[in-house]
Amino acid sequence: MKNKHIERSGSRSIKIFDNRSLDIDYRTLIPILKPGMTVLDVGCGTGSISKDIAFMVGVHGKVIGIDNTKKFIDSGKATYLEVQNLKLIHADLFAFEPGIKFDLITSARMLQWLSNPKEALLKMKSLLNPGGIISILDYNHNHLEWNPPPPLSMQEFYKTFLKWRKDAGMNNAMADALTELMQEVGMVKIEKFNADEHYVKERSDFQEKVGIWAKVAESTQMVKEGYLDNDLRLQAIEEYNEWVKIQAISMTMKLNEVRAQLPINIH
Ligand SMILES: C[S@@+](CC[C@H](N)C(=O)[O-])C[C@H]1O[C@@H](n2cnc3c(N)ncnc32)[C@H](O)[C@@H]1O
Repeated sequence: MKNKHIERSGSRSIKIFDNRSLDIDYRTLIPILKPGMTVLDVGCGTGSISKDIAFMVGVHGKVIGIDNTKKFIDSGKATYLEVQNLKLIHADLFAFEPGIKFDLITSARMLQWLSNPKEALLKMKSLLNPGGIISILDYNHNHLEWNPPPPLSMQEFYKTFLKWRKDAGMNNAMADALTELMQEVGMVKIEKFNADEHYVKERSDFQEKVGIWAKVAESTQMVKEGYLDNDLRLQAIEEYNEWVKIQAISMTMKLNEVRAQLPINIH
């Protein structure tokens, strides 16, 4: 099955990705980043988190970020031009043949979009140095928490979104499937870290982060594919935006980082 993606405006996604940082959006990774490491960031978007990783591994280290959406890579190349130990490449993971191996392969919020995550892990594994690490950060969309509950129109939209994803072969509970997937591909020393995103009203990015679901609803893809009535979609956007401004208190997106090592004696 071909991997699907929700079609959203390129410039909006670029802004969302550019606002992400290692400190806030992949914070559990920080303790294992060491000067001199060679890192591959798969599905790097515009490379905003990759450039923070590049800073941590320093001038003797090197980071390659790959993404199969050209506009994200083009944008990141322009924005992070001056980061000398960062290289952004427009490439699909499954076709990527870098000719070098990596100490660490990271992938944030990417496996959730694949119907073949095990194949993706096997491909990543083939690109590791002995003893190298794979770190995957991803969501469990089934456990999203809104406080208070949002309008019924958005609840209905979200339920449909999860069904649309499931029918396309995506795992809505990817965060909780990762440990087993790592075992299945033969990785060892598997560790799991809670990495929930918790947004409260006091945060300056509250409206932007919580408002993400109105942005997702702006795509007409699920209407075109017969999953959703267009009037319900428009109602969900309007009522949800109003709810975010007035009633919303908090939102928690559930994530885990799962990290594992390639056995040292692998040939
Ligand atoms: C939700 S974004 C995450 C971006 C970034 N890692 C972050 O956390 O902000 C997922 C990215 O994975 C990319 N992607 C999906 N499948 C891919 C594949 N097979 N190879 C490379 N990139 C892929 C998409 O183009 C998208 O930019």
